[in-house]
Amino acid sequence: MAIQQKLSLMIPGPTPVPEKVLQALGKHPIGHRSKDFQDLVGITTENLKWLHQTQNDVLTITGSGTAAMEAGIINTLSKGDKVICGENGKFGERWVKVAKEFGLEIIKIKAEWGTPLNPEDFKKILEEDKDKEIKAVILTHSETSTGVVNDLKTISSYVRAHKTALSIVDCVTSIGACNVPVDEWELDIVASGSQKGYMIPPGLSFISVSEKAWQASEKSNLPKFYLDLKSYRKSLASNSNPYTPAVNLIFALDESLKMMKDEGLENIFKRHNRHKLAMSNAARSLGLKLFAEENHLSPSITAIKTEEMDAEIFRKEIKQKFDILLAGGQDDLKGKIFRVGHLGYVNDRDIISVIGAIGSILLEKQKITYQQMGDALNTASKYLKLC
Ligand SMILES: Cc1ncc(COP(=O)(O)O)c(C=O)c1O
Repeated sequence: MAIQQKLSLMIPGPTPVPEKVLQALGKHPIGHRSKDFQDLVGITTENLKWLHQTQNDVLTITGSGTAAMEAGIINTLSKGDKVICGENGKFGERWVKVAKEFGLEIIKIKAEWGTPLNPEDFKKILEEDKDKEIKAVILTHSETSTGVVNDLKTISSYVRAHKTALSIVDCVTSIGACNVPVDEWELDIVASGSQKGYMIPPGLSFISVSEKAWQASEKSNLPKFYLDLKSYRKSLASNSNPYTPAVNLIFALDESLKMMKDEGLENIFKRHNRHKLAMSNAARSLGLKLFAEENHLSPSITAIKTEEMDAEIFRKEIKQKFDILLAGGQDDLKGKIFRVGHLGYVNDRDIISVIGAIGSILLEKQKITYQQMGDALNTASKYLKLC
């Protein structure tokens, strides 16, 4: 039945795509060496710099977010380099896997899933590194698997104080959702992907590269070809691309960046913050517990514990009854939590709907009272109005 196709995507990527962006995707492709396309790349590149709050190069690669993560490592480091990897979730683990694959010597800084990385752990190791052997500090800003946002501002200040190490950061679910002032925090490599805050389908990844990172790239000896960023920089000088780019995704990117500019950075950050507050506080009113630590909730994802209920069955019920897709827990968290993505093209109505849907299933199961359901909607409305 057609009505069953009114899917509401409330997962942390792919995220919903605005109609204007979908229409841009449906246009006929144009030649990627044409002047029209080069003009378009000129515009998207400028707008990507605006989004990243940077004068650094921001390169667009055809690939998912992991392509930008891998590119960040293989373009700036060499086999055997010593690096710090922050690990407090699935995506921190991914950094460790990539670093291992390329033969880096890894110092892990770990925190329990659901808790943030402790910036002082980074400070201590960086201060003790008198011989400046540490070449990079690698971490995830918004840890999608747990709903925790790490304190990148403080950690990056310690990396700056070290002077030699580069900061290499996964901002896949933070760019376009919360403040990531790349120049102010002097972030050297920032990786992100299109299917998140950018409001376009999967297929593009983005990487901002500082001058310090370009200098490091001169010494880097790790193997690379498709992800050799120097060829992207060379092509970008003429608003071009070394290989055939995903032309229609660039049409979509152009539209979505224009929408973002119309909304304005501050308003985008405020919207994500109020959705985080409405969602997390309403979940508590429904008697549910959050997985992430209170003061480190990601603006993009709320991870919710289901205690004795199987989160996978709960998710399935929400999907069947309301056509709202929620994300499950990953690895050991499967069945124990569900995650609500509120990232990108999400409005207040989406938040009220998902809270209503969660509450309704809990009511059906007689896990909550009508009073609690009312309280949750009141709480959400209060935050949606206040912020
Ligand atoms: C924090 C984070 N890093 C990296 C990735 C990987 O991105 P992709 O699946 O686009 O390669 C994701 C995807 O969900 C993510 O949330």
